[in-house]
Parts: sequence; C-alpha cells; structure tokens
Amino acid sequence: MTEKFYIKGGTQLKGEVQIGGAKNSVLKLIAAALLVKGSTKIYNVPELTDVDIMLKVVEQLGAKIDYNREEKSVVIDATELTSVTATYELVSKMRASFVVLGALVSRCREAKVAMPGGCAIGERRVDFHIKGLEALGAKIKIENGYVIAKANKLTGAEVYLDIPSVGATENIMLASVLAEGSTRIQNAAQEPEIIDLANFLNTMGADVNGAGTSEIIINGVKQEHLHSIEYTTIPDRIEAGTYMSAIIATKGKGIIRNIYPAHLTFFTNKLLKMGANIKLVDPTSMEVSCKGRLNSINFITQPYPGFPTDLQSMAMVLLTTSNGVGIITESLYENRFMQVPDLNRMGADIHQDRNHAIIKGVKKLSGTNLTASDLRAGAALVVAALMAEGESIVEKIHHIDRGYENFENKIRLLGGKIERRDDNSQTNLTEATHNESYI
Ligand code: EPU
Repeated sequence: MTEKFYIKGGTQLKGEVQIGGAKNSVLKLIAAALLVKGSTKIYNVPELTDVDIMLKVVEQLGAKIDYNREEKSVVIDATELTSVTATYELVSKMRASFVVLGALVSRCREAKVAMPGGCAIGERRVDFHIKGLEALGAKIKIENGYVIAKANKLTGAEVYLDIPSVGATENIMLASVLAEGSTRIQNAAQEPEIIDLANFLNTMGADVNGAGTSEIIINGVKQEHLHSIEYTTIPDRIEAGTYMSAIIATKGKGIIRNIYPAHLTFFTNKLLKMGANIKLVDPTSMEVSCKGRLNSINFITQPYPGFPTDLQSMAMVLLTTSNGVGIITESLYENRFMQVPDLNRMGADIHQDRNHAIIKGVKKLSGTNLTASDLRAGAALVVAALMAEGESIVEKIHHIDRGYENFENKIRLLGGKIERRDDNSQTNLTEATHNESYI
C-alpha cells in the first residue's frame, strides 16, 4: 500500500478539533499494565499504529487484550504472563516498547528485550535505562541484539540520570515498583507523561512520589498490593500543538478541545510572542487564531517544561513565513531537522548548521511533492502544505499514522483540503493538479 496525502493549500482552518489521548503516555501505561496480576482498563486510547504495536508486544508476553476502538478503551489482562521475551520483530518497529524491560524485570525478575537501534532522528541510546536497572540489582548482558536482564532480588537504590531521559525515567520507575525498599531517581524527566504514569501506578497500588519534579521516589510494594484498575490517559499535548500550528499557519481560527493547557505553556508563550492570539475558552479548551504576518523568534528545544522537541518542526514551519530571522537550536536529537530540505523546496529559506537552523522568513511557500521522513517532520510538512499556495503530495505517511489519529479527518473538519489516497501509480503533481477531485 502506498498511501499519500493530497493537499490543496491556502484554506484558513476554522472550527473545532478534539484532541485524543497522549501517544507517549498510553504506550507506557500499556507496558505498566504488565505489573498487575489482574485486568487494567485504559480509556482515551488513541487509534494509532504505535498503540497497535505496543498491544502486540504485551500480547506476545501472554497478556490478553480486548481493544474496543469505538469506546477508545483497551482492557489488558496480565493475570498470567507466558513469556519474558519482546522480540526484535516488534521492538524494532517501535523503540518505545523497550519500556517493557522495567515492567518485566519488576514482575518476573527476568526479561529478554530486543535492543532498539537508533532511528531516523538520532542515535537514541538506552545506556541510562540499563545503568538504572543495574543499580537496582539486575544483572544485565547484551547478547545477539537482546538485552537480557535477571534479578534474584531487586533492591531500591539511588539513580542519577545524566540527562532527564523520559524513557529511562519510566523504565526505572516500572522496575522499582516491586523492588524492596526505596528508589530515588535524581534528574528525572518531568514530562506530563511521567506524571500520568505515576498516577496510573499509584492508582493500581504502587507508591510513587515526586513525579513532575526532578526527584522521584518509588517505595517498593509487594505484588499482592497491586490490583486491577480503570484509568483515563491524559490528552496529547503534541497533537494539540500540531493543530494549533496548523490553524495559525493558515491564518485561521479554531478551538482546540480536550486538552490540559498547562502542558503547553512554553509552546503557547512562544506562539503569543510571534503574534498569534490564544485564549482559554474553558479549563480544557483554547481558542487559537492569527491575522497578519507572524514575527520571528528564537528558541532551544529542551526537556519539559522547556520547548518540546516534538513541536520543533511545527514551529519551524511557522517561522518560514514570519517577519525576520528565527534561530532554532535542537538540543535533544542529532538529526531532527529532516523537514528542512523539503521546506526549502517549497520556497523556504532555511540554513542548517549542525543543531542550529537559521530561518529567514519568506513571503509564501508553494506546494510540491514532499516526503515524511519521520512522525513529526511528516506532520510539519502537512502543516506547511496546508499553508502553501497550490497543491502538495505527501508520501510515506505511515510515519504520520504512528502518532496522529484520524489526521486527515480532523483537518477536514477544520475545513482543510486534504485527502488520503492509496496510490500505487507514480502520480506526479502535474497529473494531480489536473484532477481537482482529489481534495
Ligand atoms: N538518551 C541517552 N541514553 C539513554 C536515554 C536517552 O543518551 O539511555 C538520550 C537520547 O539519545 C536523546 C535524549 O537522551 O538524545 C532524550 O531522550 P529521551 O530518553 O528523553 O527520549 P525517549 O524516551 O526516547 C520520548 C518520546 C519522544 C520525545 C522524547 C523527548 C516516547 C515514546 N517518545 O522519547 O517522542 O521526543 O521523549 O521528549 O515517549 C515523538 O513522539 O515523536 C517522539 C520522538
């Protein structure tokens, strides 16, 4: 299947959009469900290919899954686990599945999880995850591409992270839940998804304190202490930021519903500085609009509560047509400017120097053939295509399906002209332009 997005730019996005559950939270909640000898029901589960992969991973370990797509809920029954191996076939499809390592070591005292490689956006090592588990007493070896962990006993420990890694914080939290004694994670990640995981664990009977700060303390509990629960995932702040960007980019006006505005504070402030209008409509909705040309800004991506790397590409799209010069410094990943060549092909003026991008605002972008190289770069190209003059075709949209539920339908509800086509033929833009029916 060669699905592509066909987009006709230049329409102002207007209306309302409902934000779904946070991808980067729900994936970890699914892994955390492995800790309970019982059933966990998770609500607000977004329909994403990444969620499907994570469910396959826990199913492979013996958990029983009942996924109700209409209700956006999933029940994970991990009463009995039959395997401790997460295979390369699945882990290589989605590195977030590496987080089952902590849950398996905690629950089964052993795990064999394929080592995730780097990915398009960077090297993405897992050394902090491994050091953290070793500090708790797990013996770890890497053999034939697998991380093999064994622990007769897990004992609480002091763990200091060199970088506040989201995944390492989560893996260590999961491993500590059933350890003996207290674990203190210092320089822990403070993302809202970490708080969600802690709330989830505490609801099932764990004892996790300090999530959302740089120091998290997990007091180990006994297995019998953990019980079946129902839990609702937090909204996806990155999905929300993407629609905010799309509305602003097209000089539209819309309401983003079902969000926690506080999770977007840094991003919102930068958009306000650029000249966008953003106001709170109610505690879980924000109205976003934009008239006229935005002003350029500079920013550095940072761990939460700083500017989120996952929204860097969207902000770059806004800067392409802003007044002046903007500088972006990407501090988390080595290779997260993959949208740059395609944006320049659309008429942008971006110069990249290692982890800096210098963006000189131009008057307009124009549509062309584009390729999604990864999830966020791909979504940003869709935003750019919506704002550009003329038609664009975005290829390799399977990357976008990993993290955006019903992307084209939500954009269409806002009036955007976008269509998904399964197109095996070598469509070029000239043919597409002659066929106006595609949008
Ligand atoms: N790092 C190490 N060693 C480690 C762990 C991390 O060197 O053991 C480095 C990474 O290479 C990276 C930096 O630390 O340069 C930050 O990585 P982190 O571990 O915080 O990221 P992650 O857990 O792999 C999650 C999100 C990403 C998001 C980052 C940062 C999930 C599934 N993924 O990744 O989301 O960019 O946190 O906020 O939660 C996305 O949704 O598009 C996405 C990439």
